[in-house]
Amino acid sequence: MDNLTIRPVTPDYIADIAALEALIFPDPWSEASLVSALSDENQSALCIEQDGTVAAYLLGCGVAGESEILRVATHPSFRRRGLGRALLRSFISERMNEGDSTVFLEVRASNISAIALYASCGFASFAVRRNYYRNPTEDAVMMRFDLGN
Ligand SMILES: CC(C)(COP(=O)(O)OP(=O)(O)OC[C@H]1O[C@@H](n2cnc3c(N)ncnc32)[C@H](O)[C@@H]1OP(=O)(O)O)[C@@H](O)C(=O)NCCC(=O)NCCS
Repeated sequence: MDNLTIRPVTPDYIADIAALEALIFPDPWSEASLVSALSDENQSALCIEQDGTVAAYLLGCGVAGESEILRVATHPSFRRRGLGRALLRSFISERMNEGDSTVFLEVRASNISAIALYASCGFASFAVRRNYYRNPTEDAVMMRFDLGN
């Protein structure tokens, strides 16, 4: 998709992101938990706006030279247009510039689209945590991206 502008998440975007959380995830982050996360200096949150609303967002964090992707989601109407990949690339670039060594994430083993997205951005799986998730119980695939720092 052309003209993708990636912005840091500001308080103006919180209501849209909470609505997407409720739409997409069985364990949605509330507005309050999003506000709390944003106030943490280790957290990083990026979003892409389309048609005046948040179409995709990424929540991550970085501590002691390692970073983690906590959430990445695209509104169902905007999927397969490169938004998720653009957010991941931006986060990777940000963490590389911060001097981190590795980006980690974990994903439900059945989440084929997310695993394909991460693989397309260069993440490699390195371990499986058995029965890590609940509701429903499911394995977590652990993935990493080495930043070269
Ligand atoms: C996973 C998700 C974020 C992908 O977002 P997206 O904006 O549609 O992804 P992109 O358009 O950037 O896709 C980039 C690449 O990822 C892969 N991919 C994305 N969705 C896919 C799907 N449904 N099936 C197979 N591959 C897929 C493809 O390689 C794709 O490249 P291509 O379109 O050139 O083939 C989106 O499907 C989503 O919000 N899912 C629900 C939330 C979720 O499960 N998040 C992850 C856990 S926090």
